[in-house]
Amino acid sequence: MKKIFLALSLIAVSMSASAQWGRPVDYAAGPGLKDAYKDYFTIGVAVNKFNISDPVQTAIIKKQFSSVTAENAWKPGEIHPKEGVWNFGLADSIANFCRENGIKMRGHCLCWHSQFADWMFTDKKGKPVKKEVFYQRLREHIHTVVNRYKDVVYAWDVVNEAMADDNMMFRGFRPGVKPSPYRQSRHFELCGDEFIAKAFEFAREADPTGVLIYNDYSCVDEGKRERIYNMVKKMKDAGVPIDGIGMQGHYNIYFPDEDQLEKAINRFSEIVNIIHITELDLRTNTESGGQLMFSRGEAKPQPAYMQTLQEDQYARLFKVFRKHKDVIKNVTFWNLSDKDSWLGTNNHPLPFDENFKAKRSLQIIRDFDPVLDAHQPKEDFVPNSMNQPGQEYPMVNSEGYARFRVVAPDAKSVIVSLGLGGRGGTVLRKDKNGVWTGTTDGPMDPGFHYYHLTIDGGVFNDPGTNNYFGSCRWESGIEIPVADQDFYAYRKDINHGNIQQVTFWSESTGKMQTANVYLPYGYGKMVKGKNGKMTQERYPVLYLQHGWGENETSWPVQGKAGLIMDNLIADGKIKPFIVVMAYGLTNDFKFGTIGRFEAKEFEKLLIDELIPHIDKNFLTKADKWNRAMAGLSMGGMETKLITLRRPEVFGYWGLLSGGTYMPEEIKDPKAVKYIFEGCGDKENPEGINKSVEALKAAGFKAEGLVSEGTAHEFLTWRRCLEKMAQSLFK
Ligand code: XIL
Repeated sequence: MKKIFLALSLIAVSMSASAQWGRPVDYAAGPGLKDAYKDYFTIGVAVNKFNISDPVQTAIIKKQFSSVTAENAWKPGEIHPKEGVWNFGLADSIANFCRENGIKMRGHCLCWHSQFADWMFTDKKGKPVKKEVFYQRLREHIHTVVNRYKDVVYAWDVVNEAMADDNMMFRGFRPGVKPSPYRQSRHFELCGDEFIAKAFEFAREADPTGVLIYNDYSCVDEGKRERIYNMVKKMKDAGVPIDGIGMQGHYNIYFPDEDQLEKAINRFSEIVNIIHITELDLRTNTESGGQLMFSRGEAKPQPAYMQTLQEDQYARLFKVFRKHKDVIKNVTFWNLSDKDSWLGTNNHPLPFDENFKAKRSLQIIRDFDPVLDAHQPKEDFVPNSMNQPGQEYPMVNSEGYARFRVVAPDAKSVIVSLGLGGRGGTVLRKDKNGVWTGTTDGPMDPGFHYYHLTIDGGVFNDPGTNNYFGSCRWESGIEIPVADQDFYAYRKDINHGNIQQVTFWSESTGKMQTANVYLPYGYGKMVKGKNGKMTQERYPVLYLQHGWGENETSWPVQGKAGLIMDNLIADGKIKPFIVVMAYGLTNDFKFGTIGRFEAKEFEKLLIDELIPHIDKNFLTKADKWNRAMAGLSMGGMETKLITLRRPEVFGYWGLLSGGTYMPEEIKDPKAVKYIFEGCGDKENPEGINKSVEALKAAGFKAEGLVSEGTAHEFLTWRRCLEKMAQSLFK
């Protein structure tokens, strides 16, 4: 049974959603984020008291992050709630955790309208104080905090969120208040924007070398971006020591796009050369910004398509951050895990889930490819060869990129299931005309791929392409060109065989079954028989099985089996034979029952019903030494089980990404004349190579093929068929 598991794991490896196949994936395995980004910027996290005391959580912090922000503990209202009262307990614990672990901190925050030490505004009797008194108190506050922690702090959020969300928001709201770019905080009412300048001056006095940051949210909103820009510029022109701008980064899975983000980074780069992304998280709804809009609650699983949107959004944002590494010096996640998120667990905004398990987004953020970052796909896209008549999209370019276009003006999201390995697909973006377009993040593996669209969570085929049976349904298909594609190309200069569909009644399954039968060119012709009389030529037969989600159409259509045979025959590389491609009863297989899979039903169908039907109706050589069985993936498992149990039926055996034979499994070494085993180099080539070696050492005639640059897909199996066919019936 162990070998069967191996075979299934081959299937699983190729599926991007391998977690769904029962094997949990550890997305945190590999380098920490901080190491992956060491040549770019520091990676930070906002922490609470649990994060720094629980060993599981501290381990995550130490591995992944090179910067820490206290989520609340250092805010004026927390650390300094009353005149003369200081709560250093938790604040010190966080600082000490960082000191002990050599992690530098962002000091958040020295002056803010929220969670502020509001006592600074009034005297003992509750009457408003003059701004001079306020400044004195603010200065003492800033000096105390900065002096206590500056040994471990490299940057301070000196002033937080001083700008208004909307220019007009206070018009008419309070009589006499004019529209203002500034937030109408108590600070502003008392001091105008001078409090900003003062806070930065006090911070500079206390820490001459720390990076002093103005921090705010909604920086990608054009209006707010300009208000922040104007304020910081005005302050800097007046000599206020502002070193950098913090863009909080409370975004969502739909917003912002790369362009909006880049515009903000570029704009701020005109006046500062340090930008920190200080509070990154991605809500799964359409809200954004600094306002708390969620209540905490029980965790609900995030729909898979939203997870993909989030992964894609993280990937896009980090790509922009990397591009601007000259000015972006830190990216900090706001909270460690979904459980900790200020947005509530139900929003699933972070790369660690509510159980502190890394999500795939962590891997996607971490495992970026600097070469692809710098590469623009070549603009030589042509229509996919599998498109429906007259359809331009999807397109492919000479490097293997695929480009998609879907018209769905009212959709909220469109995802193409095809994308770079380990990703949930390619997320399209809507243009001004309501048309969704997108290009894969890099070249796809060459050859054929199934795919579908997920539009707002619903699954559809792409109307641009023909349909191909895979995943137990008809799916869209795309063909990425490859240098050796001629072996399955249609050649007009040669003779072609044909593929016939046969149906037959199957008593064992109680229904009609279907097979497609490849008959070589010349089938039916007269030849001289052994007795010297003219007779119709008879042919050996290969029974060729598809994989789990496919059927009898898969080998003839996307497998190109007929064309591969025609080309081999025309080039004189093989003598003609028949190929029978029947449905292998695989679609009903339920995952989780693989341990019990024995292929007994199919064995009955194949040996008691299909083979007799073929031998009766076609010009076959009806004996073991003229009969081969091979299959891909789950069809390989069927092949292995059935050939080992019924060696008297088949003389040639082939497993295509479908496991391996071990010599000791084959009772009678004379039972088989030739064994073929193959897979893609992105599958388990070691397993194939070892098995072929072992078989050869044990005296079997065995041959292997590791297909270059391919995974568990049809180009691997086309190449396998082409090679295996040349050694059958010899
Ligand atoms: C949030 C904290 O995460 C919450 O626990 C708290 O209740 C409110 O503040 N912008 C900021 C952060 O600068 O300090 C805020 O943190 C989130 C918005």
